[in-house]
Amino acid sequence: MQSTGGAAPAIIRRSDYRAPDWLVPDLALDFDLDAAHTRVHATLSVARNGAHGRPLRLDGDGLVPLLVRVDGQELTPEGWSMEGGALIIPLTGDAHSVETLVDIAPASNSKLMGLYASGGLLCTQCEAEGFRRITFFPDRPDVLSRYHVRMTADKALYPVLLSNGDPVGQGEGADGRHWAEWRDPFPKPCYLFALVAGDLACNADSFVTMSGREVRLGIWVCEADLPRTAHAMKALKDSMAWDERVYGREYDLDVFNIVAVADFNFGAMENKGLNIFNSRYILADPETATDMDYDGVEGVVAHEYFHNWSGNRVTCRDWFQLSLKEGFTVFRDQNFSADMGSHAVKRIEDVRILRAAQFQEDAGPLAHPIRPESYMEISNFYTSTVYNKGAEIIRMMALMLGPERFRAGADLYFDRHDGQAATCEDFVRAMEEGGAIDLTQFRRWYEQAGTPRVAARLAHDPVTGAATLTLAQAVPPTPGQPDKQPMVIPLRTALFDPATGSHSGEQLLMLTQAEQSFTFEGFAQSPLLSINRGFSSPVIIESERSQADLAFLSAHDDDPFARYEAMQQLMVNVLVGTVAGQPVDESTVIAAIRQTATNPALDPAFIAEAIRLPAEAYLGDQMAMVDPDAIHAARDALQQRIGVELEPLWRDIHARTQANGFALSPAAKGARALRNVALTYLVASGAEDGPAIAFTQFDRADNMTERQSALATLASGRSNEREAALDIFYHRYSDDPLVLDKWFQTQALAFHPDTVDLVEELGRHKAFTLSNPNRVRALYGAFAANQWAFHHASGKGYRLVADCIMALDRLNPQTAARLAPPLGRWKRFDASRAAMMRAELERILAQPGLSKDVTEQASKSLE
Ligand code: PHE
Ligand code: ZN
Repeated sequence: MQSTGGAAPAIIRRSDYRAPDWLVPDLALDFDLDAAHTRVHATLSVARNGAHGRPLRLDGDGLVPLLVRVDGQELTPEGWSMEGGALIIPLTGDAHSVETLVDIAPASNSKLMGLYASGGLLCTQCEAEGFRRITFFPDRPDVLSRYHVRMTADKALYPVLLSNGDPVGQGEGADGRHWAEWRDPFPKPCYLFALVAGDLACNADSFVTMSGREVRLGIWVCEADLPRTAHAMKALKDSMAWDERVYGREYDLDVFNIVAVADFNFGAMENKGLNIFNSRYILADPETATDMDYDGVEGVVAHEYFHNWSGNRVTCRDWFQLSLKEGFTVFRDQNFSADMGSHAVKRIEDVRILRAAQFQEDAGPLAHPIRPESYMEISNFYTSTVYNKGAEIIRMMALMLGPERFRAGADLYFDRHDGQAATCEDFVRAMEEGGAIDLTQFRRWYEQAGTPRVAARLAHDPVTGAATLTLAQAVPPTPGQPDKQPMVIPLRTALFDPATGSHSGEQLLMLTQAEQSFTFEGFAQSPLLSINRGFSSPVIIESERSQADLAFLSAHDDDPFARYEAMQQLMVNVLVGTVAGQPVDESTVIAAIRQTATNPALDPAFIAEAIRLPAEAYLGDQMAMVDPDAIHAARDALQQRIGVELEPLWRDIHARTQANGFALSPAAKGARALRNVALTYLVASGAEDGPAIAFTQFDRADNMTERQSALATLASGRSNEREAALDIFYHRYSDDPLVLDKWFQTQALAFHPDTVDLVEELGRHKAFTLSNPNRVRALYGAFAANQWAFHHASGKGYRLVADCIMALDRLNPQTAARLAPPLGRWKRFDASRAAMMRAELERILAQPGLSKDVTEQASKSLE
């Protein structure tokens, strides 16, 4: 471990779990709210859990006890002690009432954990361990309590006072203050506690549940944002209906509130009955939100709502079980979004995200199983492995079981564990019993990190007509796991007979051994392999399929994901070949793109996905060593070639998809997606009028999807229109933070030789601030994802990101730590870049007072 100026942070291990010494069945919280000084008076009913003599230990982070009472009697300073921020109270009986009083300062809480100020609001964020910054409490998810919350605040500044559960009283106080009381009848862990105080307006609606109960719904935002909440409200009602229809799960309180805040470390939080959202996942209107933003709102509203069952009614025993609620809930929100729109396109998008974020994580120094074995800082484990790979693991179970048996397993899980803090093992066991399946070997997906590689070889015997598919799996070594056992890998597979151009039925092949063969009869000619259809397993398939075979599948495969995949693989082969200096044939790719783009039977949204070139980072992942410059050059050249060769087609599509008025229908969204791909290729062709066409789209658009995409196209070029468009965009939206984020992000993602210098300048722009996580991610998060720019040979990109991490760590360690992983990918780059990346990690680690969060990420990244 590198020196961190202090002691190395302690490592918490899954195997060290022990049941809590004390339970807290009831908790009363009394908040005297004020931005500078908030007083929190807590009354805990505590109960000894089992026969032991250990004292009551209440976690605290930065808290000073102003008062400690047991059963109404104030304790003398000898009656309690402090241990690393925690309050230790020896108790004699088996049940007591314990009171504490603390004074906290929301206005100076820059970590955005605990009680903090955002704009004029006061709000909380407790997951994972923020509650200990509010009051002394056993801050662990297996201590469940019934909450009774009272808030008192200045009525003019904070006219609205919200907390979990149902409102039970309110009234006026002295000196312009007022109060409100809320009671949540469902016992919950403290990470699900929330309160909000502020001057908020409400989009009020209602939902009648399957048993006929009326639930009052409220989406709370500042008055000016009310018109932008309609999509979120629709998503909420659709989610409530979907969870009833698909899982038989009904909402359980009389009130469901959502509040949008501008400063938030993640996307949103599922606090019981009072979800708190990053405003980017609530606010949407055509002028300011892209179609992707609309889908983000729908997906995140659903995600947080679905947590009411998968997370709140059944919660996690400890934080190692995080994927129990997150993987399952991502799986649920993905299926919801697919049902609301296109299953094919949603699956393609989800796989693209998995490959871009999770496969990279699984291949690097921060790789961990979906159920980790140890951590220093749990905030670092809200990862795409726990979330997205976790969802894939549930998806495989659902596939193996089929819908009815999966539903039976889910029913058993919810019924058996309602009101409990459960484990991943509990979930798997419910699936085994409810779904009647043996998941012994499948459990390895919870234990082993790393993306399995499956080599597929197809042999054909023209005499017998038999085709033999040989599959060999290997799970690469990952930190702490040098040797791996074979996984259970369900592969949806079909063999296309070239004679008929079709297949005689898809099969689910279960690969469970290191190597296995499957034989298929009746092929006069060697068939074509369509494997891992629908991306049935989160693995990398290695198969040597010719460009001709891929072209055939890209035109004829009846599984939309496999068809997309064939198309992408065609492009990858050409691009990887170019980078390796091999002769390549671009004509097959161009013909396949033409074929797909002109096929009237295909959904335009699907076409847009299929004909887009793979991202530079994805191409890097296909190579032993990433050469960012060569990858960029190859991709750019192919894009131009496609642009030139098919120029009339791009012009035709671009003209044809021009809409007459904005609509949010799938057809209108698909048309916009295709229009934007066409514009990219048209401009890439180098046609003289390209930038002018892009500028006209930018200027005339009646929606952000078309405007931002035209801006992005221009930002990657060197036209005069580039500066003009950026300038107009900035001035038009300078008082809308969410749109201003797009202005930063678009420039950080631009394929432009000067991006690295531009990002440096933007870091000093007057609209840039480290105190808003969205703004930081829009600039530095996006930049670090721009492979060509971030890996600039000068090393300047690494320095910019490291500087940002070091500055931000003093304010907001959680968000700072999330910027570190790109620097940890040094093993994949040449010696010069690797040395510079390592040097930046070492510079970060040498910063005095570095947080646990960044220490963990940076030190692991050096190994
Ligand atoms: N639990 C939140 C979710 O739904 C994520 C989150 C984690 C939010 C930690 C804030 C802090 O995914
Ligand atoms: Zn979640």
